[in-house]
Amino acid sequence: MNGKKLAGEKAVEYVENGMHLGLGTGSTVYYSILKLGELVNEGLDIKGMPTSKETEKLAKELGIPLIDESSVSELDVTIDGADEATPRFELIKGGGGALLREKVVASISKRFIVVADDSKYVDPLGKFPLPVEVVPFGWEITQKQISKLGCQPSLRQDGNEPFITDNGNYILDCYFETIDHPADLNVSLNMIPGVVENGLFVDMADAIVIGRKDGEIEEITK
Ligand code: A5P
Repeated sequence: MNGKKLAGEKAVEYVENGMHLGLGTGSTVYYSILKLGELVNEGLDIKGMPTSKETEKLAKELGIPLIDESSVSELDVTIDGADEATPRFELIKGGGGALLREKVVASISKRFIVVADDSKYVDPLGKFPLPVEVVPFGWEITQKQISKLGCQPSLRQDGNEPFITDNGNYILDCYFETIDHPADLNVSLNMIPGVVENGLFVDMADAIVIGRKDGEIEEITK
C-alpha cells in the first residue's frame, strides 16, 4: 500500500465546508490536494493558501480557489507533509525547500495536520538533514556559524548551481545525526544573522496522520 496516499487522503476528513486552508508542499500532501480538487468539483466551498509555487500551480490546475495572502490573518486547517515527526509533535520539514512559507502558513492555522508514511515517524529527530534557509549574501559565513551548533551544513545544489527557494534564498542541509533539544536548536539557529528560517517545527502540529504499508492508518492527536 502507498502510505503517503493513505495519509494524504485521510487528512482531508479534517476539512469542512467554508474553511480556509493552508495547502502544504510535497509528495504526501499532493494526495490531499488531489482529493480536495475532486471535492471542490463536487461543490465543496473552500479556499486555499499554497505554501509553494509548485502547490499554487497544482491548486490552480485542480480549480481550488486561492486566498489573497495580503488579506489573511488566520486559517482553519493546514495539511502538510514532514520529513521526520516524533510522538512529541516535533517535525523536520523543508526537504522540498518550502519550509519558510510552510512555517508562515502553519503559524496562523488553528489546526495543523501532518501527513506522512510510517518511515517518517521517528524518535529522536536528526537522521534527516535539517534544512535551513539562508540569504545568499555571505552564506559561507552563516554556514560556519551554523556548524558551531554541532552539525555539518552542506549547500543544497540543483545540478551544478545552488538550489534557490521560492523566496530567492539558499538552503543549507545540516547533518546533526541526533537532535535532542529541538526547541532550543530552533531558537539558536534563528538567532544567527543570515538565517531566514529553519525546518524545525516544534509543537506546532495538532495531529499526525500516518499511513502504513500494511494499509493501516494511525492518527496521533493532542
Ligand atoms: C517541503 O519543503 C517539505 O517540508 C515537505 O513537506 C516535506 O519534505 C515532506 O515531503 P514529502 O511528503 O514529499 O516526503
